[in-house]
Amino acid sequence: ENSKAEINNFSTTDKNPAEVFRIQFLGSKGLIKSLMGEMKNVPAENRREMGQVLNDLKLFAENKYEELKKTSDNGQETTGSEVDLSLPGEALPLGSRHPISIVRNKIISIFQRLGFAVAEGPEIEDDWHNFTALNLPENHPARDMQDTFYVSQNPDWMLRTHTSSVQVREMKKGKLPIRIICPGRVYRNETISARAHCFFHQVEGLYIASDVSFADLKQTLYFFVQEMFGNTIKVRFRPSYFPFTEPSAEMDITCLICGGTGCNVCKHTGWVEILGCGMVHPKVLENCGIDSNKYSGFAFGMGIERITMLKYQIKDLRLFSENDLRFLKQFTSAV
Ligand code: PHE
Repeated sequence: ENSKAEINNFSTTDKNPAEVFRIQFLGSKGLIKSLMGEMKNVPAENRREMGQVLNDLKLFAENKYEELKKTSDNGQETTGSEVDLSLPGEALPLGSRHPISIVRNKIISIFQRLGFAVAEGPEIEDDWHNFTALNLPENHPARDMQDTFYVSQNPDWMLRTHTSSVQVREMKKGKLPIRIICPGRVYRNETISARAHCFFHQVEGLYIASDVSFADLKQTLYFFVQEMFGNTIKVRFRPSYFPFTEPSAEMDITCLICGGTGCNVCKHTGWVEILGCGMVHPKVLENCGIDSNKYSGFAFGMGIERITMLKYQIKDLRLFSENDLRFLKQFTSAV
């Protein structure tokens, strides 16, 4: 009975209680073995009864041992052998590129084939790079064309309203000829709707060399449109006004949402405007330290959102920034 109580009350602070228990009671030098050893001193008539008692005790101890093994397995560290290294890993869900990135990359690669290099600049600009150098002096009414977000700490700082500011930075470097495209995010204080947002993405282009003509500009943009949308697409130029180009134009293409038959996107005209362009104004060249008698150039600028909407028949620009996976997942196989 004493031994049974001893077994029952067993406790240890050791990390592996089952093993301590086994050594103390069940091992070759343990209590049960030594009690078994005592059997030879038991009178023959009691041996049978004593054997029974010891067998019970042994069973009791073995049960307790199994119990201890179980509890010490739970919650204790598992040994290396229990991790099956041959099991397949958990698959990471594959993401997809954002449609704006897909189209930006495509635009970049088309112009790179024509020899344009990519230039980038800061999203927070100063007034000179964003406006003044581009022939929009302070109080010029054309500044109203682009509602600007100013940085409250300094009235000279703003979120750039176009990436023309990057073109100014490149011209200031003074290395000619220049043949660059400037992709990037721009900001305008506009009411958010299906067609406008307070931020969007642009790719602007600039080519400056001796003897650059309007014909070069047209041919470059024709090439771009055909590479982007295929060679059945129709193009038209309309005269327009920008303070930094003269002459200026806007380019329309056949509305790809309705195929030119008329819809809300093209306001039932069959045409959509995709970019502004023109010959760089001599004043802009001079502002940036380039001799306008020796050099001429063209510039253009387009919104990537608009191109993407036409390419993928997307009717609401807000989809681009809402992070709805049902929308984004549709571009998994696009490149
Ligand atoms: N910077 C103009 C805009 O953001 C686009 C443009 C660029 C127009 C170059 C003409 C020439 O609206």
